[in-house]
Amino acid sequence: MSKHTIKVCMGSSCFARGNCENLSFLEKYIKDHNLDADLELVGALCEGKCDLGPHVYVDNNEYDEVNIDKLQKILSSL
Ligand code: FES
Repeated sequence: MSKHTIKVCMGSSCFARGNCENLSFLEKYIKDHNLDADLELVGALCEGKCDLGPHVYVDNNEYDEVNIDKLQKILSSL
């Protein structure tokens, strides 16, 4: 895997609607797969698109309504 940046919206709406669980999943995934050097996990502020949240950004791609299933698909495509 080459290096990727995963940005998780930490705004209150996205966080309450799933990014709390998504963040825990990502942290565990990175640890379990020893991907510290390849996946950089960062937080993002609310960008005002809460209706379609929770939002996760991977490199330059924006994903809406992200859940763990969707994250697994995104991660396997990297
Ligand atoms: S809280 Fe994530 S876009 Fe508003």
